[in-house]
Amino acid sequence: MEVFKDYYRNTVKFVKNEMYFSNQPKHVWVITKHKGQWLLTKHKNRGIEFPGGKVEQGESADQAARREVYEETGGIVKELHFVGQYYVDGKGGDIVKNVYFAQVDELEERPHYYETEGPMLLDDIPKNVKKDNRFSFMMKDEVLQIAIKEVKRL
Ligand code: GTP
Repeated sequence: MEVFKDYYRNTVKFVKNEMYFSNQPKHVWVITKHKGQWLLTKHKNRGIEFPGGKVEQGESADQAARREVYEETGGIVKELHFVGQYYVDGKGGDIVKNVYFAQVDELEERPHYYETEGPMLLDDIPKNVKKDNRFSFMMKDEVLQIAIKEVKRL
């Protein structure tokens, strides 16, 4: 288990390859690639981040991961790999989130992208992402670094 503080100084615990904190996590986050580039989305309030969100009633976490990628980027997930799970001891309550890696072949143009402005393709995630205010807080803790390391191993 890896333990660290996030951007808001909340404690985060991350466990690889295992649904360690909950069998029914309520949140998902998907590190996504499309034709060799990183596929992110621009959230209207939080800024640039990988797609993700809440698991809906009657849906599995894997289904939520595919749906969120589609809603926020138009990307149709071909392969979905589970990477790990993290727990955030947040001020407004605890959350448990599954992290995935998804390979997207097809990017469909959509009339709207929910809370986001749609897809954003990047060759690289900037080294100074922590200090770059275009990026969401979700991109600013060790979860991103751990997940990207895992994705490179896959
Ligand atoms: P909505 O209900 O979706 O409008 O947003 P919310 O921010 O109120 O709810 P959510 O349950 O998504 O998140 C609650 C809090 O948990 C956030 O304000 C963050 O502090 C924290 N949180 C959520 N997702 C993450 C994440 O991926 N990483 C980290 N470090 N904290 C997160």
